[in-house]
Amino acid sequence: MNALEIIGRKRDGREHSPEEIEFLLSGYLKGDIADYQMAAWLMAVCIRGMTRAETLALTQAMVRSGEVLDLSGIPGTKVDKHSTGGVGDKVTLIGPPLAAACGVKVPKLSGRALAHTGGTLDKLESVPGLTVDLDPDRFIRQVREVGIAVAAQSPHMVPADKALYALRDVTGTVPSVPLIASSVMSKKIAAGADAIVLDVKFGRGAFMPDVAAAEELATEMVLLGEGAGRRTVALVTAMDTPLGRSVGNALEVQEALDALAGKGDEELVKVSLVVAREMCWLAEVGNDPDDALRSGAGRAKFLEMLAAQGGQIERGLPVAPVQIPVAALSDGYVESIDALEVGLAGLELGVGRKKKEDPVDHAAGIVIQAPVGARVRAGETLAVVHARSDELARSVMPRLQKAWRLSAREVKRPPHVLARVDKDGVTRAG
Ligand code: URA
Repeated sequence: MNALEIIGRKRDGREHSPEEIEFLLSGYLKGDIADYQMAAWLMAVCIRGMTRAETLALTQAMVRSGEVLDLSGIPGTKVDKHSTGGVGDKVTLIGPPLAAACGVKVPKLSGRALAHTGGTLDKLESVPGLTVDLDPDRFIRQVREVGIAVAAQSPHMVPADKALYALRDVTGTVPSVPLIASSVMSKKIAAGADAIVLDVKFGRGAFMPDVAAAEELATEMVLLGEGAGRRTVALVTAMDTPLGRSVGNALEVQEALDALAGKGDEELVKVSLVVAREMCWLAEVGNDPDDALRSGAGRAKFLEMLAAQGGQIERGLPVAPVQIPVAALSDGYVESIDALEVGLAGLELGVGRKKKEDPVDHAAGIVIQAPVGARVRAGETLAVVHARSDELARSVMPRLQKAWRLSAREVKRPPHVLARVDKDGVTRAG
C-alpha cells in the first residue's frame, strides 16, 4: 500500500477499504505523507465523493487519532448540540441553557469563527473574565453541578481534524458532504455525549448551498452518530438571512440574554426552542423549554454557566467606540438580507479572523434594525455598524447596502426550520 496508489484509486472513483483510509490518515499525521498528496486525495474525494462505509471508516480513524472524553461520571443522558455554522447564529447561547434549565446535562465543546461564520467560543470570550479553556475535570464537574459547560476542544482530541481542516481551508476542499460529516461527527463522538442535536444550515451564509445538500449532509451525520451508538437528530435550517438581529461577539451575547428574558426575535426564539425541545426529548426529560423561557430559568442557567466559567457579566460587555447607521437607498419592504454579505462585512470589522492568528474584536458587529418583512423609507436605518474606527465602519457600508434587497410588495418572513432528520429519515416541516 502506498499514498500514490490510494490517491489514484479515489481519482478513478473506486472505493477505499478501512485499512487504506487508516494508512492515509495515520501516515499524514506522522509526516510520512506530504501535504500535497493529502490535498490531492481531498480534492479527489470532493469530486468523486465517498460511500457511507468509507465515510464511517474515515470518521472512526479520525476519532482514533486522539483522546476521547469519558463523561460516565456525569449521571443521566448527556446531550450535545452542534451547528454547521452560520451568520448571527447564537442558538447555542439560548437553546442549550433552556434545555439545561429543564434538567438536561449539556457538555458542549465549541469552535471559533470560521470564514464568514461566527464561533461560539469567540462570542463567550466577550464576557469579561470568562474562560473557555476548561480541563476535563473542571468541564465534567461543571456539567455535573451546573448542568451545562461550553468549552474549547482540547488539542489532544481529534488532531486529525485539526490537520485536515487547516489543509482543506486553503485547498478549496471544505464543501464536501463526507469531509464535513466526518469532521463534525468525529469531534462530536470524541466529545463523549450520549445524544446529539445537529443544526445543519443551508443558504447564502452557510457551507451547504441548498436544502437538498443540507438534507444529504444531515442524513450522513445522523447515520454516523447512530452508527457510533449516539442517538442523533438533525434540524435543517435556512441561513439565507442572518439569524436574529445581531452579528458580532458581544452583540450576540447581549441578544441571547435579551431573548432569554423574553425579548427575542421571533425566528431566533422559535429555532432555539425547537433545539431545546429536541435536547429534552433525547434526554427523556419531561420539562418544557417554553416554561424555562417564560419563568426566566433559562436565563438564570445561562448566567450561572457564564459565572462558573469565570465570566463577570456585571462588568458589562465591550462596546464599540463607533456606531454608524446604514441608511436605505430607496423605499420598500425588506425581501432578503444576504447572510454572506453581512458575514463578510462582519469579518472586515473583526468579528472573525481573516488569518488564523488574527485577534477578534469582541465589540464589533452589525445590529439589524430592518429585518425581513419590515417596511422602510429611503434614508431610514437598515442596520447599525459597530466598529473600532469611523473609517472601518464606513468601509463596509456599500457591502451592507447591497445586502438588503427591497421589494415594492409586502413580504412575509419565510420559515427557518425546514426539516428534521433522524435515523428513520427526513420529515419536512409544515
Ligand atoms: N465545521 C466543521 O467542524 N467541519 C467542517 O468540515 C465544516 C464545518
